[in-house]
Amino acid sequence: MVNWNKIRKDFPITERFTYLDHASASPIPTPVYRQTLRYYDELGGFADFSWNRWIARREAVRRQVARLIGAEPGEIAFTTSTSHGMNLIAELIADKGGVLTNSIEFPATTVPWVYRGTKMKFIKPIDGIVDYTPHLNPPPQGGRKIGGTPSPFMGEGRDGGIKTILTSFVQFQNGFRQDLDALGKLKGDRFLVVNATQGFGYLPINVKQSRIDFLATNSYKWLMAGYGGGILYLRKKWIQKLKPDSCGWRSVDHPEKFDNRSAKPKQDASRYEYGCPPFPHIFAMGAAIEYLAGIGFENVWKRIRFLTDCLIERLSKEGFEILSPLAPSERSGIVVFRVKNAAKLTKHLLAKRIYVSPRGGGIRVAPHIYNTASEIKHLLKTLKEELRQP
Ligand SMILES: Cc1ncc(COP(=O)(O)O)c(C=O)c1O
Repeated sequence: MVNWNKIRKDFPITERFTYLDHASASPIPTPVYRQTLRYYDELGGFADFSWNRWIARREAVRRQVARLIGAEPGEIAFTTSTSHGMNLIAELIADKGGVLTNSIEFPATTVPWVYRGTKMKFIKPIDGIVDYTPHLNPPPQGGRKIGGTPSPFMGEGRDGGIKTILTSFVQFQNGFRQDLDALGKLKGDRFLVVNATQGFGYLPINVKQSRIDFLATNSYKWLMAGYGGGILYLRKKWIQKLKPDSCGWRSVDHPEKFDNRSAKPKQDASRYEYGCPPFPHIFAMGAAIEYLAGIGFENVWKRIRFLTDCLIERLSKEGFEILSPLAPSERSGIVVFRVKNAAKLTKHLLAKRIYVSPRGGGIRVAPHIYNTASEIKHLLKTLKEELRQP
């Protein structure tokens, strides 16, 4: 049994706010923050005498991350954001063929490809559900049309020349959770590229099982490790086969040789770490994984599901239209419900120290482990009061 009251004490923000949108950004729990301070103590007291220790610690975090998503440590690179990771992916494969994605993606997923002039197909969700299936397996006859609209890749093979499936694990606008295992089964020889930002840290991800080729995520949302960190997964095969445009002095096997005439990069994902590491962000991610693993990732997801259950039940009772898909396999930590003037309403709620966001045609609520059922109740009560105002 997890003592959630005790966990709540790790979040001083609870003394100030009813903070209910971790899909925007999360507070850092005190134990994670303290662990991160250790780096600054060492930096102040010992500076570069700590270098070897820091490098060893970085490698330990790489192993933690790899374990968490079912990858090998050599397939993990540390970045500074999801956008950073997605650009490194696009740099490798944006010119390989068309991209199948969807119209409600967060721009961090799509912009790096649009920028490079990649042919993109944005499918529309139906009832909030993003289903790539008909676009990957169009019937042999009539396969030139998808959902009645001509495919932009028509005439380039049965699937219209789609080389990459580009998707968020969980959609930021409505919380729809993509079935990555199913997508992995469907993908054939296409690349499966996943923006894991809105699922990473509380939902299970297994890159091998889902046959994911590339994945990018960051540190500051559900992982609760603060801004500045990111993770890039690249399947081993692609690290060996695909050549990035960029290379840095630390992309090579022995940077300490200071060889300024050769550029033979390492054969693992760390070749994408061009310069000295952003240690504090890496250590914060390691500490956050340790913190959540200490609670148990299954318990973390159970707790978030319990809180979203409370919310969904109350919203339904009060007659709100829920815009998030509600099938158990499609649920995440994000719940969006329709209201008029969501932007204005969220401002009013903030004036009452309740933090939620206007997203996807309504209000987005995204609770984390330290929130409580009473906070959900408080949100609903305040919301109703606000809606009663003329
Ligand atoms: C799905 C998704 N991807 C990426 C981001 C932003 O990522 P970053 O700032 O690390 O590039 C967000 C932020 O809301 C998001 O919801």
